[in-house]
Amino acid sequence: MTKKKLIAGNWKMNGNLASNDALVRAIAKGMGDAACHVAVCVPAPYLAQVQMLRAGTQLELGAQDVSTHEQGAYTGEISASMLKEFGVRYAIVGHSERRQYHGEADATVAEKAKAALAAGITPIVCVGETLAEREAGKTEEVVKRQMAAVIHANGHCISEIVVAYEPVWAIGTGRTATPEQAQQVHALLRAQLKAATAQVERIRILYGGSMNAGNAAALLAQPDIDGGLVGGASLKAVDFLQIIAAA
Ligand code: 13P
Repeated sequence: MTKKKLIAGNWKMNGNLASNDALVRAIAKGMGDAACHVAVCVPAPYLAQVQMLRAGTQLELGAQDVSTHEQGAYTGEISASMLKEFGVRYAIVGHSERRQYHGEADATVAEKAKAALAAGITPIVCVGETLAEREAGKTEEVVKRQMAAVIHANGHCISEIVVAYEPVWAIGTGRTATPEQAQQVHALLRAQLKAATAQVERIRILYGGSMNAGNAAALLAQPDIDGGLVGGASLKAVDFLQIIAAA
C-alpha cells in the first residue's frame, strides 16, 4: 500500500490579509487535483480567512499549536475544539521554536497531541535534535525521547498522528539534512512507532528543515519520507507548488 504524501506549509508568524489572499488563491489554483495531500498551517487569527479561501478546493487547513486544556481560565490559549470549528484538520505540536522559546517539554507536547486527537484533529508532532546534540552523537537519543513521550501518552491512538522530523540546525538555515541523514532518522522513528502499533504504515513521517523546490524530490524519494513540513518555501506559491509537484 502506498499512502499519499502530505506537504504541509508552516507559515509561522508571517502573513497579512492581503498576502494570505493572494497566496492561498495561487496555491489552490496551482495544485488542482494534486497527487498528495496539501495543507497550510496558518497563524490563528487567519484561520477563518483561509477556511473561506480554501472552500471547494483540495487544500486543507492547519494550526500551529493547540492548548493541552479543553476550556477554561487559560488566557491566550486556543483549544482543539475551537480549532475544529474553523475546519482545522491538522495542528502542529512541539515545533522546535515552541520547545526553544516557550519552554515546551516533551510531556506538554504529548498532552497537546492528545488534546488534538480527542477533538478529531491530526497532530503533526515535531521532533528533532539541535546542532550541539547531533555533534555530540545524541541525535537518536533525543528524537527517541521526544517520540517516546508522545507514544506513552497516546496509546493505541498513536497510529492517527503525523510525525515531522525537523533537525533544528536545518530550520531556516538553508542547511538541509541530506536525504541519507534524514532517511536514517526516519527509519529509526518508524521502527520505534512499529513497536507501539501494528498500524505503523498509516503514519506519515514528514521531513522539515530548509526543504525547497530544489531538494524536495531527492528527500521525498527516500523510503521513509512521507512528505514535508515546509517553512520559508511555503510562503511563495511558486516554490510551494514545485514541492507539491515533486510529491
Ligand atoms: P524552513 O523550511 O524555513 O527551514 O522551516 C522548517 C520548519 O520549521 C517547518 O516547520
